[in-house]
Amino acid sequence: MNQSWWKESVVYQIYPRSFKDSNGDGIGDLKGITSKLGYLQKLGIDVIWLSPIYKSPNDDNGYDISDYQDIMDEFGTMEDFDDLLEAAHQHDIKIMMDLVVNHSSDEHSWFIESKSSKDSSKRDWYIWKPGKDGKKPTNWEAAFKGSAWEFDETTEEYYLHLFSKKQPDLNWENPSLRKEIYKMMAWWLDKGIDGFRMDVINFISKDTDYPEGEIIEGKKYGNGSKYYMNGPRIHEFLHEMNREVLSKYDIITVGEAPGVTPAEAQLYTGYNRNELNMVFQFEHMGLGDGPEGKWSNQPWKLTELKQTLTRWQKGLEQDGWNSLYWNNHDQPRVVSRFGNDQEYRVESAKMLATCLHMMQGTPYIYQGEEIGMTNVAFESIDQYKDIETLNAYKELISEQRLSKEEMMQAIYARGRDNARTPIQWDDRKNAGFTSGTPWIEVNPNFKEINVEQALANPESTFYYYQKLIQLRKEHDIIVYGSYDLILENDEQIYAYTRSLNDEKLLVICNFSIESATFTLPDGFIYASSALLISNYGVNHDESFENFVMKPFETRVYKLK
Ligand code: NOJ
Repeated sequence: MNQSWWKESVVYQIYPRSFKDSNGDGIGDLKGITSKLGYLQKLGIDVIWLSPIYKSPNDDNGYDISDYQDIMDEFGTMEDFDDLLEAAHQHDIKIMMDLVVNHSSDEHSWFIESKSSKDSSKRDWYIWKPGKDGKKPTNWEAAFKGSAWEFDETTEEYYLHLFSKKQPDLNWENPSLRKEIYKMMAWWLDKGIDGFRMDVINFISKDTDYPEGEIIEGKKYGNGSKYYMNGPRIHEFLHEMNREVLSKYDIITVGEAPGVTPAEAQLYTGYNRNELNMVFQFEHMGLGDGPEGKWSNQPWKLTELKQTLTRWQKGLEQDGWNSLYWNNHDQPRVVSRFGNDQEYRVESAKMLATCLHMMQGTPYIYQGEEIGMTNVAFESIDQYKDIETLNAYKELISEQRLSKEEMMQAIYARGRDNARTPIQWDDRKNAGFTSGTPWIEVNPNFKEINVEQALANPESTFYYYQKLIQLRKEHDIIVYGSYDLILENDEQIYAYTRSLNDEKLLVICNFSIESATFTLPDGFIYASSALLISNYGVNHDESFENFVMKPFETRVYKLK
């Protein structure tokens, strides 16, 4: 067993804009977070991942940073941050910051300097190219639609932006840029923060030949991703970052890495590689993607989910480490996506939590997940705020790739604002999030689903998450046991075991709204069994070797 505190931890993600507003401007802030540390300590989490709080013009809600060493006006001041960090540590909670260094904001002084002239000392800190044959340097599409290149009139060249045009990509080929970033990281670590979540970190090394991307039939732009995902110098850069900064501190690191496979993830997280602790992979998040990606959401099968997660569990079992998540600020709410957000909301939220937290890896809880918050379906597109959603809406409808109705349905199912409606603290005005007008509307179901109510009900999902976290602290097998899938072909039940020394955990989850019969496969030898957790009452005389599961039922047994 290769033991580490960050493997034994549970991380809770805060999207500050939507967490808790302390000053009535309708936007969550640092003081709001500090005021809720007692709540998080009660839940039992070890680490907060704070989505970006840096100075930003908010084209992409803080993922466009204009000063890496200052705080966004709406969120407060550096003093508020220092207070939050100190108070979090007093509550035994660590803070992991978001590090967004694939790109900055176009309002960052580096970019302003860079674009001022071809001779600028910072010219090469971004990626500038002349046009090619009267066209853009490549045909690549940006993640937020349109071309990934923007023409700048001052010097008559294009700059690369893999996201919005207000998020120019930094040029990691330039050693002084890299040095400046490492210096900034060390500055935060010296302040006492406990780690970094690194935004699209596997995009920082580009193929410097800038080849054309493949154009899929009917599309205007090409897909350049194979020229910037896991690019040629990525491991060299991360190795350098580790040597120069990360290795000097006892911290937690997780890299967001769209498009990685388990084999690649091993290169990022292997024990002797000296890069990162873990990555966020996306394979299970892409289930149901169609021709327009997540905007053509299609039915998915439980066997696909099982195959995917099992591939990751087995792939990193010997060397490397998994992050475990269903939710974050970019994904829809898990009860709506993989569970049932109506009659079985509570049961399915508990089942999904069990299925994830019993796997091998570090679990991440996204704010509001612990009370079973659901997706939202606003009537009008004008109620939506997310740049990705709004750009896709405009483009897909104007190019007649999806009808308005199809697009609204896709937004309801997969849009990012599902995760960004304010936390529902109580059943009073604006769900107790703000005394002002919230920057995005509250989900109208806040009267039934809110923290106050969850805390008053011992059967709530809140206390269920609390128990899952507690169990992790009590049983090494939950952290370190090896994983094996059973009932591979079952389309209703996801069941697996974890094994450590002479112990086994048996995790059984019914993912369907129908009842399902569980039968323990042959070959299980044990002298005793104990039920660790379940989401329905269980009759202890009943054999678990063969039983009928209720809709979304889950049970975990410890066998010896
Ligand atoms: C991934 C972040 O999670 C997402 O919210 C953001 O829009 C992009 N990276 C660009 O920074």
